[in-house]
Amino acid sequence: MRKKITVVGAGQVGTTVAQLLAYKNLGNVVLIDIVEGIPQGKALDLQESGCLQAFDSIITGTNDYKDTADSDIVVITAGLPRKPGQSRTDLLGINGKIVKSVTEEIMKYSPNPIIIVVSNPLDAMVHVAKKVSGLPKNRVMGMAGVLDAARFRTFISLELKCSMVEIDAMVLGGHGDSMVPIPRYATVSGISIIDLMTKEQIDRLVDRTRKGGAEIVGLLKKGSAFLAPGASAVKMVESILRDKKCILPCTAYLEGEYGWSGIQFGVPVKLGLTGIEEIIQLKLTDEEKAAVDTSAREVQEMIEEIDKII
Ligand code: APR
Repeated sequence: MRKKITVVGAGQVGTTVAQLLAYKNLGNVVLIDIVEGIPQGKALDLQESGCLQAFDSIITGTNDYKDTADSDIVVITAGLPRKPGQSRTDLLGINGKIVKSVTEEIMKYSPNPIIIVVSNPLDAMVHVAKKVSGLPKNRVMGMAGVLDAARFRTFISLELKCSMVEIDAMVLGGHGDSMVPIPRYATVSGISIIDLMTKEQIDRLVDRTRKGGAEIVGLLKKGSAFLAPGASAVKMVESILRDKKCILPCTAYLEGEYGWSGIQFGVPVKLGLTGIEEIIQLKLTDEEKAAVDTSAREVQEMIEEIDKII
């Protein structure tokens, strides 16, 4: 039987996610939003591209959570995007309430979904989804590291003028300015960038990666990035539904890993049919560990803050 994937929020990110899920024939897609007409219109428009893009998925647009019943995966993109000058944290209260209500509605109709949160501020929103859903830690995760690593990979490729597909990278930590790209683990065909670039070059690319979201917000003026975020969420869905067991940086619930417990944090995980099948523990240098700790403290504070709101 075809898998069922619900995408909550038919905005920029949600629409991109729905489109890529369909193009990759990953399952039937339900697009849901609070605004009437938008998910229905976008779903029909996407469905009408099926014969051109050669997909058989059924795309449903709706405002009724009954239509999401028995979803295998739910991607939550509902919420406000950033405006220029705003940080992701500025969205905490408003998006926290949205993610809470969305998760409650989802859980009424799907007993055991895997939830991938995209809404920002990401780490806190994953915390809300896990707390409200009561799902086990392997079934609730956030999309951040895949995107941050993709940005780092892109900047490396542009700097070295070499193919993007040979480049790999790892970014740990919260999805904010304190995220921790790890140059040691950034490679071009297996060669660490430390052997290919100067420290000045690496520092510049790390800084651009940390500010990658703001760079796009500044250019767009209205709304935030959606093409690479959408593709990143679909990469996670694909690894889960096809049981590919990709190792990807995702936001996961820590219980002692990296010296932290009770927080949602970006770490390398193995993604398969049951969701997060393993958290990979890296041996970090003192400097890397200090940066991870700084990021974790920030995330912990944000989680304490959202717990007071919801
Ligand atoms: N239930 C369902 N949909 C909702 C709800 C809700 N309670 N509240 C808002 N929405 C919908 C809006 O109607 C809108 O269609 O969420 C959609 C958000 O779309 P956009 O405004 O285009 O925002 P987008 O760029 O897609 O970003 C969504 O993802 O990357 C993050 O920071 C970003 O938090 C933001 C989220």
